[in-house]
Amino acid sequence: MSARPRSPAAGAILGLAAGLMLPGAVAAQSGDRALGEYLSADCVTCHQISGRQTAGVPAIVGLPEDAFVALMNSYKRRERDNQMMQTMAARLSEEEIAALAAYFGSLRPQP
Ligand code: HEC
Repeated sequence: MSARPRSPAAGAILGLAAGLMLPGAVAAQSGDRALGEYLSADCVTCHQISGRQTAGVPAIVGLPEDAFVALMNSYKRRERDNQMMQTMAARLSEEEIAALAAYFGSLRPQP
C-alpha cells in the first residue's frame, strides 16, 4: 500500500484518523499499550490481571482511560491517601500513566 492517499476514500479515512487524534492531543493522549503491558509487571503483584478484587486491593482492569489517569494523578498529587500507591504513582511519568491506562483499559475482567 502506498503511503500517500490516492483515492478520496483513503483521504477521508486519513482525515478521520487525524480528526480523532486531535481531541486526544488536547486532553490526555492515548497511551502506548505495549509500554503499559511492560510496566504492568509492577502492578499485577497486587492488582489481579483477571480483574478480580482481592483483600484490600481494588480491581483496575477495564477502567476507562481517563478515569485511570485521574486516579493515578490523585495518588501522585497525594490527594488520595495510600502510601503504596502514592509511591508507585510518583515514579511514573505522564506518558507511563497513559500507557498503563491504555493497557489496563483494554483488558476485560474475567468472569
Ligand atoms: C503493593 C501493592 C500494590 C501495587 C504494587 C500497586 N497497587 Fe494500585 N492499589 C493498591 C491498593 C491497596 C489500592 C487501594 C488504595 C486506596 O484505598 O486508595 C490501590 C489502588 C489503585 C488504583 C485506584 C483503584 C480504584 O478504583 O480506587 C489504581 C488505578 C491503581 N491502584 C493502579 C496501580 C498501578 C497502575 C500500579 C502499577 C504501576 C499499581 N496500582 C501497583 C495496591 C497496589
